[in-house]
Amino acid sequence: MDDELKPTSPPGRADPPDRGGSRVVERVITPQAVMEGAGVRLMRSIATPTLDYVDPFLLFDHFGSDEPTDYLAGFPWHPHRGIETVTYMLAGEVDHRDSIGNAGRIGPGDVQWMTAGGGIMHEEMPQPGPDRRMGGFQLWVNLPAELKMSRPRYQDVGAAQIPEVRRDDGALIRVVAGEVDGVRGAVREIYADPEYLDVALPAGGSFVQPVPRGHTALAYVFVGEGRFGVAGDLGYRGELDGVLLPAPRMAVFGDGDVVRVVADTSPVRFLLVSGKPLGEPIARYGPFVMNTREEIRLALRDLQDDTFVWRDDPAWERSRRTWSPGTASR
Ligand code: CO
Repeated sequence: MDDELKPTSPPGRADPPDRGGSRVVERVITPQAVMEGAGVRLMRSIATPTLDYVDPFLLFDHFGSDEPTDYLAGFPWHPHRGIETVTYMLAGEVDHRDSIGNAGRIGPGDVQWMTAGGGIMHEEMPQPGPDRRMGGFQLWVNLPAELKMSRPRYQDVGAAQIPEVRRDDGALIRVVAGEVDGVRGAVREIYADPEYLDVALPAGGSFVQPVPRGHTALAYVFVGEGRFGVAGDLGYRGELDGVLLPAPRMAVFGDGDVVRVVADTSPVRFLLVSGKPLGEPIARYGPFVMNTREEIRLALRDLQDDTFVWRDDPAWERSRRTWSPGTASR
């Protein structure tokens, strides 16, 4: 083609630079301090007056303290229905028991992916590590209408089973769910087709991760600071440099093909979480998330009638646990 036939920009106006499918940061959430369970201090980014949910994610809590009185009261017996809860530990331990016969302890680097389905009761009791510290995250992932009343299920994955990808530039990525550089995550077969990565970048490092178009994507910065939503072409300055986010912050991304993060002078560590939105109506009440108010009323009635939980555990019959609306709900 002759040069003079090529389309050109009007003089004095540059074409908008191509972001190369990079997702921009649409919202920045500063976590709110809340008291949950029997008196646990934590920082909440989703399920607040500011941000009710980001389909399919219904709640995101960051708990962490080196003061045991902040967390020892724990989360005594409480029910769940209609969702999945994902607990990822950084420090300390959590003892857990439930109505389908699971009991155990999860510690640093472990993940517990619990599908509450049609009904589970469980207890989550934090224990301090050797340095009194306890910390981690809990994410709630919605279930579609067809799976809300399904059989409860656990995927308990120990730290040693979670694959790690170490790149030449010093990036270290723990793949809880999803795929990085051909390495598949430990948690699989989840309806929302989620990705859950724990990414640590050294100062000067960068990270690019494809996320399917149409999927919700968010990042939670918990150590250091980084620039999120950086454009593909770093030759430009300005908004294409992304948004500088110091810990603790959550970035909710707009649509696109890839998420880009750059660490400048400080290292950064963040979770990258993505999943397929359900686009269904949401009716939530404490630990239940259903599609309609009527289904919430049914959940409360089932609790009253003692027909709420799946009864896989014979011991459950002998150690009846109760829960009252308005008490510990996470
Ligand atoms: Co719970």
